[in-house]
Amino acid sequence: MMWSESSDFDNDAPHVPVLVEEVISNLLNEETEIFVDATIGCGGHTKEVLRRFKKVKVIGLDVDEEAIQIAKKRLEEFEGRVTILKGNYRNIERVLDDLKVREVDAILFDLGISSFQLNSRRGFSFHDDDFLDMRMDKERDLTAFQVVNRYPMRRLAQIIRSYGDEKEASRIARAIVLRRKLKEIRTAKELAEIIEKAKRRRGKIHPATLTFQALRMEVNEEMENLKEGLIGATRVLRKGGRIGVISFHSIEDRAVKNLFRAETCLRVLTKKPIKPKREEVLKNPRSRSAKLRVAEKI
Ligand SMILES: C[S@@+](CC[C@H](N)C(=O)[O-])C[C@H]1O[C@@H](n2cnc3c(N)ncnc32)[C@H](O)[C@@H]1O
Repeated sequence: MMWSESSDFDNDAPHVPVLVEEVISNLLNEETEIFVDATIGCGGHTKEVLRRFKKVKVIGLDVDEEAIQIAKKRLEEFEGRVTILKGNYRNIERVLDDLKVREVDAILFDLGISSFQLNSRRGFSFHDDDFLDMRMDKERDLTAFQVVNRYPMRRLAQIIRSYGDEKEASRIARAIVLRRKLKEIRTAKELAEIIEKAKRRRGKIHPATLTFQALRMEVNEEMENLKEGLIGATRVLRKGGRIGVISFHSIEDRAVKNLFRAETCLRVLTKKPIKPKREEVLKNPRSRSAKLRVAEKI
C-alpha cells in the first residue's frame, strides 16, 4: 500500500486517519481542554485536533514504540500542547493519575492497526515473507509464531472462530496443525498459503484475512484491552465529556455497542454507528469498514 494513498491532511502521512471530521464534530468543541488520543498511532487525528483547537492539550498513548517516534516527530510543532507516552489504554486511569490529571473532556479510541504497522514487516500482511510476529508492543512475549505453532488445535480453532468470525475455523486449524507437524510455520506468506489451500469457500476478501485478524487480536489481547480500556475511560471522563470509538470489523463494533450500553453512566449518542462518506471511501479505501460510536458521560 502506498503511504500517500489519499489524504487531504498530509500527503506524506504513514497512515491516513479516518472519519476525522466526524470525530472532531462529535467529540470536541471550543470548551474542550484535555483530549486523550488513546491510540495516537502516527498522530493523524491528534494533528488535526491541535491544528484546529488552539486551547486544547492532548495526551496521546500507544503501545507501539515505533509509532510513538513517528507521532513525536510529526507533532513537534505543537510542543507544550501534546504529551505522548508509551502505554496501554487498558491502564488509562493509572497513566492519567501519574500525570496528575483528574478528568478529561474527550477520549478517542481508533482500533486496529495502522497502515504504518501493516507495512512494518512484522507479519501483519499475508503478502509478505516476514516472520510471524504481529506484536504491536515489542516488549510483550507472545508472538503469532507461538500461537500458530504451539497452541492446541481446539484453542486455535476457537480463536479463529470467535475473533475472526471465520466459518471454516476448524478446517484451517486442522491444516495448520498438520503442517506444523512436518515443519514450523515461520512466515506470514507460508501461513496464508496454508489457509488458502485449506478453505473451501472463496469470498470477496483474501481467504487469510479473517484468520490473520483473529491471530492479531489474540497476540495483542485486543478484546481484553478494549473492555478494560472503555471502563477506565468512562471513569476518567468528566460529566458531559465524550468517548468515541472507531472500529473496523463487526466483532469490535458489537463489543463497543454492548460495552457502551452496559455502562450506566454513559448515554449513547449514536443509535447507528457513523460511517465514512462516499468521498472518503473513494480517497481512502481503508476507511470503508470504519464505524464510529460515540457516548457521553451523564
Ligand atoms: C488505527 S491506529 C491509530 C491511528 C491514529 N489515529 C492516526 O491517525 O495515526 C491504532 C493504533 O493503536 C495502537 N494500539 C493498539 N492497541 C493499543 C492499546 N491497548 N493501547 C494503546 N495503543 C494501542 C496501535 O499500536 C496503533 O498504533
